[in-house]
Amino acid sequence: MSTLAGKELILGVTGSIAAYKAVLLVRELTRAGARVTVCLTEHAERFVTALTFRTLSGRAVLTDLFDPQSDEAVEHVALGERAAALIVAPATANLIAKAAHGIADDFLTTVLLAARGPVLIAPAMDGGMWDHAAVQANVATLRQRGVAVLEPDTGPLASGLSGKGRLPEVDVILESLHSLLTPVRDLAGERVLVTAGPTREPIDPVRYITNRSSGKMGYRLAAAAQRRGATVTLVSGPTAIAPPPGVVVVPVESAEEMREAVLQHLRGTTIVIKAAAVADYRAKTPAATKIKGKRDLTLELTPNPDILAEVAAQRTGAFVVGFAAETDDVAKNAQAKLEAKGIELLVANDVSRAGIGFDADDNEVLLIDRWGGAEPLPRMSKGEVADAILSRVLALRKRAAQPVTR
Ligand code: CTP
Repeated sequence: MSTLAGKELILGVTGSIAAYKAVLLVRELTRAGARVTVCLTEHAERFVTALTFRTLSGRAVLTDLFDPQSDEAVEHVALGERAAALIVAPATANLIAKAAHGIADDFLTTVLLAARGPVLIAPAMDGGMWDHAAVQANVATLRQRGVAVLEPDTGPLASGLSGKGRLPEVDVILESLHSLLTPVRDLAGERVLVTAGPTREPIDPVRYITNRSSGKMGYRLAAAAQRRGATVTLVSGPTAIAPPPGVVVVPVESAEEMREAVLQHLRGTTIVIKAAAVADYRAKTPAATKIKGKRDLTLELTPNPDILAEVAAQRTGAFVVGFAAETDDVAKNAQAKLEAKGIELLVANDVSRAGIGFDADDNEVLLIDRWGGAEPLPRMSKGEVADAILSRVLALRKRAAQPVTR
């Protein structure tokens, strides 16, 4: 994310078990060329040491041992005023409450009051707390004031409970920061339809067939397209990811539901991106009641409709992008898939490799287009892959002068 290069940023870290994830965030920010000053609350220091952050950021870390009245401290408050952005990740319910009410009783909350640039808050808290009326009221106050407060993710929490309260992923925090700092609007006027996540194919009322897709790639695409000015509809299978702000989400479960939702929203769409991992098969006749017994069972499967091929065959004028999850002969299989599906661009990745593809934060893809281009992209975060795909779509469409439905 070159927009971060040379930017002065302040990262506030508060006392949540998710504080260790802030370490990854600092690494990504510095990797992108940002100059990061980390500010730890007293409680944060119980989870991660100042030394860790100091080593990664290459800068002094502000802690409450640091006397807020000292000259050096005053200098850092000035830094707060000059910073391109201030991020708090993770932000506890306590920090959110103090920020909403302008309380400045430690270093971080003092710097928060001094900040003149955009403020991004990535909350993390235990189940139930996020939904508490007090927290919601504080979040609403901050948002009204122009502070970007991210929605926490849903999933297992440190307490053993499950619910909404997990720190949004590093990639999501970076994506939001990116959009706060760079208002590129090269997709203004576009209507983008993205599909994401797995599908669930029922076997009986309590069981289903699914796959390992997390939905991350599709959600990053939807968020990036929205940030770049497009009107975005996201048809999503079941995922644990919070919907990107400003995107219309159409939740679906099965491939047939996904097909229906996609066809319903196709009109007027200029770019279709099918990142969903649609189950190839479904149970031919799902049982109406729960299947019982401990005997061998044969499940008869029937193929699902190929939504991507169907969309491409409609020739609406939309630019159609498909994904291919391959385990071998990636380039050859991807080329064949591009042709078989009749689409403009295919994003191929090798899902047999660790650290990329399904459920990972990074991806390393090959972009194959119908005009004979094959561009391998280096390994990068899914947010960066999303931006690269969208830029490629714009470049190809310009080159091919593809007719567009508006
Ligand atoms: N896809 C779809 N409908 C299906 C299956 C797949 O729209 N029933 C889309 C996916 O969203 C993706 C692309 O097709 O964009 C490629 O999916 P892939 O997993 O490679 O599946 P298949 O095309 O079925 O190919 P394979 O023979 O490798 O399984």
